Amino acid sequence: MDYNNKTVWITGASSGIGEELAKQFAEQGAKVILSARNIDKLNQVKDELKGEGHRVIPLDLSKPETVLQDVSAQIDSLGPIDILINNGGVSQRSLFLENDFKVYRQLMEVNYFGLIALTKAVLPSMVARKSGSVVAISSVAGKVGSKFRTGYSGSKYAVVGFMDCLRAEVAQHNIHCLTICPGSIKTAIAHNSLNGQGEAQNKPEPSIENGMNVNVAASKMLTAIYNKKDEVVIGQGLSGWAPFIKRFFPSLFNRLTAKVEYK
Ligand SMILES: NC(=O)c1ccc[n+]([C@@H]2O[C@H](COP(=O)([O-])OP(=O)(O)OC[C@H]3O[C@@H](n4cnc5c(N)ncnc54)[C@H](OP(=O)(O)O)[C@@H]3O)[C@@H](O)[C@H]2O)c1
Repeated sequence: MDYNNKTVWITGASSGIGEELAKQFAEQGAKVILSARNIDKLNQVKDELKGEGHRVIPLDLSKPETVLQDVSAQIDSLGPIDILINNGGVSQRSLFLENDFKVYRQLMEVNYFGLIALTKAVLPSMVARKSGSVVAISSVAGKVGSKFRTGYSGSKYAVVGFMDCLRAEVAQHNIHCLTICPGSIKTAIAHNSLNGQGEAQNKPEPSIENGMNVNVAASKMLTAIYNKKDEVVIGQGLSGWAPFIKRFFPSLFNRLTAKVEYK
């Protein structure tokens, strides 16, 4: 894979999957734009990347209108964006009956509206050049439901639907749209997952601790992007198989999810 002179914009680049994607794209020669809220961590990741020309653009995806306005204002000065990876996001581990309503808005703002805002700011320049890839990191939780994730799953299902429609609309402009649905990947996602009051739960979980190594997952993502796939599931064990079980044995799957406390 040769990404020399290509620019890849990655959100959520201060941690986990986004940080690893940044490293692997830089290894392949790409210039990386790193976005998230934690500017110190973004600069630290940038300084460790191979090659030159990487940039940090801080973004808070929970303020989508600001993202749209700020990025649209500077997009012409950034040069061509070849690949946009909408990866930044936050998960949830709390039961519907115990959740504050605001948790649902928090999850949708970051995981859905933030993604749409940045895509809306970047896509017109890709369409004008008739070239580019838009990648969304949804989740296996965007294909199947399980306990503790009513808000998270809702936001990630929404991403899958958005991307399916966008793909249909922009194919005529030679724009590639890829939806990636990771299973459990070993990152800080469990620690950062929201509780019923919308605060980080700050604790680990077995499914994530025993999940796929993030470097393996990111490498599979690079391959899917390079091969211009439409949608891929990347995970191991139950988290990787869940979409297929749900598709072919839906009643069995629904009975299982009612019994299992998957964390
Ligand atoms: N790990 C998994 O098992 C798994 C499975 C399925 C899907 N995913 C998805 O993969 C993506 C990356 O997650 P991860 O596993 O790498 O988790 P992570 O280590 O917690 O990283 C999350 C990233 O999102 C950024 N982020 C969170 N809120 C943000 C906001 N308001 N504005 C801008 N950036 C924000 C964080 O940066 P700042 O805090 O610096 O803003 C961080 O860089 C997420 O969309 C997640 O839903 C992960």
